[in-house]
Amino acid sequence: MATKNQFYQISFALVLCLGLWAFQVSSRTLQDASMHERHEQWMARYGKVYKDLQEKEKRFNIFQENVKYIEASNNAGNKPYKLGVNQFTDLTNKEFIATRNKFKGHMSSSITRTTTFKYENVTAPSTVDWRQEGAVTPVKNQGTCGCCWAFSAVAATEGIHKLSTGNLVSLSEQELVDCDTSGADQGCQGGLMDDAFKFIIQNGGLNTEAQYPYQGVDGTCNTNEEVTHVATITGYEDVPSNNEQALQQAVANQPISVAIDASGSDFQNYQSGVFTGSCGTQLDHGVAVVGYGVSDDGTKYWLVKNSWGEDWGEEGYIRMQRDVEAPEGLCGIAMQPSYPTA
Ligand SMILES: *[C@@H]1O[C@H](CO)[C@@H](O)[C@H](O)[C@H]1NC(C)=O
Repeated sequence: MATKNQFYQISFALVLCLGLWAFQVSSRTLQDASMHERHEQWMARYGKVYKDLQEKEKRFNIFQENVKYIEASNNAGNKPYKLGVNQFTDLTNKEFIATRNKFKGHMSSSITRTTTFKYENVTAPSTVDWRQEGAVTPVKNQGTCGCCWAFSAVAATEGIHKLSTGNLVSLSEQELVDCDTSGADQGCQGGLMDDAFKFIIQNGGLNTEAQYPYQGVDGTCNTNEEVTHVATITGYEDVPSNNEQALQQAVANQPISVAIDASGSDFQNYQSGVFTGSCGTQLDHGVAVVGYGVSDDGTKYWLVKNSWGEDWGEEGYIRMQRDVEAPEGLCGIAMQPSYPTA
């Protein structure tokens, strides 16, 4: 038979549990409420409008999942990079990849790469940042058009144009999207940087962003603007594959187009620091390496210009770990680098 004392102990425990349970419930509702509030604030910040409540609820749930993923990753404290909320936080990773990452890696593997490498005897300095030399235009935003390949090729072309003429001019991705359609490149459906260089050579040059502005959708080639050749290139070369040292020699001389595997959730949610993975080598995204260096904690990195606007990453850039064990480089960054010549 339970003594009076035991009875008190049991009821005390019961009250304690109930109290804890009530506390958990109320903090959960609070958390939910604050998550809803965060979603609302996020919607306002990025101008998101959902077509109905059902869509909003669906997007809220994805947003919540991503926020939890981001916070868990940051709280784990074992990664040199931070994740954060950005314009992609209401997208599943699958949705995110489907609309943006259209580098045609599977096609390029069958294309013969060039063998001349004019920087093979270059002694590369320990750090390079082409932004400081005025050879990099502000970060652009491809939106939901899968023409990363055009942004990557244009960034490298803007770089060599500046280095050969002294003028930094923002050039037209839309011209590539609309007019470079007779070969492998398919506008918002994807393409290859080397094929973009081929188009620019054959066309006799490329017009400016101002004259042929970005629309973010496949359009008809504006032949009146296509004939204006503000920037010209004479050829293009591939950096020897799977050789980060060669990539360093190339980047030491000009901004370089590279293909990477940007399909990971950590890439989608990247905010700052030196990105160390995880990712594979299924090349699906075109970007531009505009420098390299060593972080405060001694980690070597590539300075990579992306085309997802300034809200993503470090004001539109990502620092990706350099000189990794795998010859392909992190996310395959050393697999298919190339550059235009002038
Ligand atoms: C690099 O150096 C070697 C040996 O001197 C030479 O044969 C080669 O032509 C040089 N390459 C370039 C691109 O200058």
